[in-house]
Amino acid sequence: MEKGAAKQRIAELTELIDNYNYEYYMNDTSLVSDYEFDQLLSELIDLEKRYPEFALPTSPTKRVGGEVNKNFRQVKHRYPMLSLSNTYSIDEVAEFDTRVRKLLGDRPFSYTCELKYDGVAIGITYRNGIMVEAVTRGNGIEGDDITDNVKTIRTVPLKLRGDYPDDFEVRGEIVFPWAAFDEFNTQRVANGEEAFANPRNAASGSLKLQDSKETAKRKLEFCMYFMMGENLPGDTHYNRLQMVNKWGFKTPNIIKECHNIAEIQEFINYWDTHRTELPYATDGIVIKVNEMALWDELGMTAKSPRWAIAYKFKAEQVSTPVVGIDFQVGRTGIITPVANLSPVWLGGTTVKRATLNNADFIEKMDIRIGDWVFVEKGGEIIPKIVGVDLAQRPADAERFSYITHCPVCGTKLVRNDGEAGFYCPNEDGCTPQQIGKLEHFVSRKAMNIDTIGSERLAMMFEKGIVSTIADLYSIKKEQLIGLEWAGENKKKTSIQEKSADNIISAIEQSKQVPFERVLYALGIRYVGEVGAKKLARYFKNIDSLAQSNIMELAMVEDIGEKTAISIFEFFNNAKHLEQIIRLKDAGVQLEVKESTVSNVLEGLSFVVSGVFSKFSRDQIKEHIERHGGKVVSSISSKTSYVVAGEKMGPEKLKKAEKLNIPIIDEDTYIQMTVQEDNQ
Ligand code: IVH
Repeated sequence: MEKGAAKQRIAELTELIDNYNYEYYMNDTSLVSDYEFDQLLSELIDLEKRYPEFALPTSPTKRVGGEVNKNFRQVKHRYPMLSLSNTYSIDEVAEFDTRVRKLLGDRPFSYTCELKYDGVAIGITYRNGIMVEAVTRGNGIEGDDITDNVKTIRTVPLKLRGDYPDDFEVRGEIVFPWAAFDEFNTQRVANGEEAFANPRNAASGSLKLQDSKETAKRKLEFCMYFMMGENLPGDTHYNRLQMVNKWGFKTPNIIKECHNIAEIQEFINYWDTHRTELPYATDGIVIKVNEMALWDELGMTAKSPRWAIAYKFKAEQVSTPVVGIDFQVGRTGIITPVANLSPVWLGGTTVKRATLNNADFIEKMDIRIGDWVFVEKGGEIIPKIVGVDLAQRPADAERFSYITHCPVCGTKLVRNDGEAGFYCPNEDGCTPQQIGKLEHFVSRKAMNIDTIGSERLAMMFEKGIVSTIADLYSIKKEQLIGLEWAGENKKKTSIQEKSADNIISAIEQSKQVPFERVLYALGIRYVGEVGAKKLARYFKNIDSLAQSNIMELAMVEDIGEKTAISIFEFFNNAKHLEQIIRLKDAGVQLEVKESTVSNVLEGLSFVVSGVFSKFSRDQIKEHIERHGGKVVSSISSKTSYVVAGEKMGPEKLKKAEKLNIPIIDEDTYIQMTVQEDNQ
């Protein structure tokens, strides 16, 4: 395609797709089939790739992400991001009303009541109808520039329509709707990752991701509640929210104009009982004076405007008796006590169990069997025990004495200094630990042997086909065929020849999984994905790692003393070493297979600190390693160089100067390796 034509087609497609998106997300109308839509989008993606100079900043392709944020730039807010005064009491809302009436005398006015969205506050700037910047609240004065990530949120218009002001900012809350959040959390748990406690934390984490493609996958939404700028149109807050809707913002339809405290109270009461039916989390109601001309007159207190107040819902709470206490044994042997509760309805679900965390928690709360406990469900999805109703304690309830032996294998429990939890040390003979380790090993982020689900694994364990991770590599197809278990609805399910083939081939494929993931799959206590990556990069193979000492381990970035001790102990256990030999014999990757670019930095060790312009910090580290150098986290007399970017930590600087370690900048570092790179 000729250049001029490409430019025109890019502009055309941008507008067309934007229009389809608008109708779909704002008006729930599909103007084209999914297929047609995808065709147009891929045509645009393709053209933008070939002619990047013509890609528009408002292109709908920004919705799928791709921009990588190295470090989020700090941006000063044009208007400080204030907070609201909060109350849990309707009487205080009435006092607010009295105050406002007193200040306004006999001038007529009204209020708007709207939901207080439980998400992440954000300000988005529009210039000439184009979304130019999105910034988090931060400390209220300055926040992080998360523009690329926010561009992926479909309810944030990238280009406005209608008669909008030239330059203004909208404020609102980014929320993670329940349905999308539940789906996302389920996926995380299936991948062996920790679930987020509530949608707010998940939204906040999603907005701070370095890779906007990841943010794009998370189905976040924007709820707009406010606008800032010079000479903005509109007389009441209510009308303004209706007006901005025409510019392309999805504004709330749960909003009411109220004239007195009785109407406000009615709105509050209604949503206090109906909030569980909303598609996203809300933690209260915001009441604002509706007439914007009165805002200046009412003015501000030190922190918040006098024309608004937030009424916060109390966390829902019920009390119910503890009928028993069970103990779960985790993959690493950690014992978690769980209360069995008399079933009780709370916040839309029946609660039957609640965690008691650890021995200290039970002791501190003095929770006894037979006690009535208060269970709360606030912004969290998991119910929490928050107290004991002593008035209802049965006369014969005895102080709970914690178990001393593993409830599964009977081994005496141990507790390390400074740790709250007890654990069962019988890692090779305690079934939940053995199965847990196998489950972790085959999980997606580890060896990704996805054809073995937990039921199959449990069956294989029960039949003695696998007891340890190394056993997986000696499974024969014949051992699997016909294995049977009761699946859902007690229906018998068994492994057929084809499934057996799939299992064997997935096990075979896992031999290609890179060393860092194998290291993670071993399930060493405290070694997560990131730690495993750093260890793999540093030690390069399992033998050097196994021979290292605690001091050296603790030198690796992200590896603290507790983890270093745990790694050291892991490799000083003969049974683990035997497993490793068997994995090695089977052909599992136990060393880094890297495309080393050169050895120009061999023998040198580097500490990397600060913010860089050409690389991200992780990229520099990888670069050093690919050129044969070592990256360490703290400066010692053995450090060869400190590569320093902007805002290098003052402590590091002091230490490097004291030990006379050369401090080099990014460009000097590049010079050290460039010769080799050019070859
Ligand atoms: S109006 C001058 N309306 O709650 C402040 N805030 O402390 C104007 N929030 O930081 C804020 N829903 O992030 C307003 N419907 C709503 C809101 C809302 C949530 C957040 C906001 C603010 C905090 C209150």
